[in-house]
Amino acid sequence: MNTMDCYKPLRIGKRLRVIRPGVEYPDEGRVDIVIKRGAFGSGEHETTVSCLEELEELDLKGKRLLDVGCGTGILSVAALKLGAAEVVAVDIDRAAVETTLENVRLNGLSPQIKVVLGTVNRLKGNLKGPFHGVMANIYPEVLRDIASFVAEACLSGGFLLASGIPWEDNSDIIELYKGLGFSLLKNRWLECYTTFVMLKA
Ligand SMILES: C[S@@+](CC[C@H](N)C(=O)[O-])C[C@H]1O[C@@H](n2cnc3c(N)ncnc32)[C@H](O)[C@@H]1O
Repeated sequence: MNTMDCYKPLRIGKRLRVIRPGVEYPDEGRVDIVIKRGAFGSGEHETTVSCLEELEELDLKGKRLLDVGCGTGILSVAALKLGAAEVVAVDIDRAAVETTLENVRLNGLSPQIKVVLGTVNRLKGNLKGPFHGVMANIYPEVLRDIASFVAEACLSGGFLLASGIPWEDNSDIIELYKGLGFSLLKNRWLECYTTFVMLKA
């Protein structure tokens, strides 16, 4: 990627556009997400793109969401810009937490998000839920580890949007969550990974 490519707006789905801070872009009528690079999730990776495409299809108005493995915070920022009321975001990487806080600030969303360094086990009190939806673009072993937490934290009718799952793990992970009361709404096969949306009964 050359230097200019770093500043090109990324148009994602029907409504979203990822832009970089400090650059003026002509208005295109899209929902702009300002993302400073610094951790995984600047908007180019197929898993991030697929999650953003699915987020814009979900009804997020007024919803309280959990973002597991927030990276740059791109999914949290997009969800809030698409109408979610509040997000709790966690990441085990300090740089990711710092980048998320900065991106949330750049988008003027600081009051609506709590960012926690660590795994979901660090969440206490009402930060543990309940949530109307969980976003988790993360490794399959983490999706396995957090399954019972997610099932408990997710309200009935809530969604699990997951990605980062290598093809070979796709059906195992889906079966695991089916066993915890989720049903499959959508399953997408990307170049190397899969993405799914499940709904809690
Ligand atoms: C694939 S990146 C996703 C980033 C961003 N959410 C996106 O969609 O582009 C996964 C992130 O999960 C974090 N992570 C890995 N294991 C974790 C765990 N057990 N709990 C919380 N975060 C974790 C990593 O530090 C990394 O930032």
